[in-house]
Amino acid sequence: MKILVINGPNLNMLGIREPEHYGRETYEDLIQKIDAYCASRGIEAAFYQSNHEGDLVDHIQEAYFAGMDGIIINPGAYTHTSIALLDAVNAVKLPTVEVHISAVETREDFRQVSFIRAACIATITGQGTDGYLRAVDQLMEACNGA
Ligand code: DQA
Repeated sequence: MKILVINGPNLNMLGIREPEHYGRETYEDLIQKIDAYCASRGIEAAFYQSNHEGDLVDHIQEAYFAGMDGIIINPGAYTHTSIALLDAVNAVKLPTVEVHISAVETREDFRQVSFIRAACIATITGQGTDGYLRAVDQLMEACNGA
């Protein structure tokens, strides 16, 4: 099983940005943690981070052309604005899990909207970076049940 883990804008700033919401782990720490979890389960994980919406669309499409089995995505602020990301996930039809490190449902009103959610098999919020590991579990379940 091969999965792509996509992180959107400002997630490269983990460890520096708003630790009260996003904790103290860096982006590198996050990648290592997910990679180790996946390796222990025989899953091959690839990683991509960008601050640019179109690049995120390109990589969702790339997951399809590369024959990936699923996508984990934290679209950052594009969660709340991007129909292009929603359309990209609907286009590739790969099982996709939406992750948010913070509990978006307890934050500002503008964070209550998620366009991409409609195309995702699950959404995980408020579990810190462990949320990505739960997303791996969800994809394993989805792929093994398929
Ligand atoms: C986030 C929540 C978003 O509202 C915010 O814009 C982010 C990070 C999260 O992981 O909690 O950049 O997706």
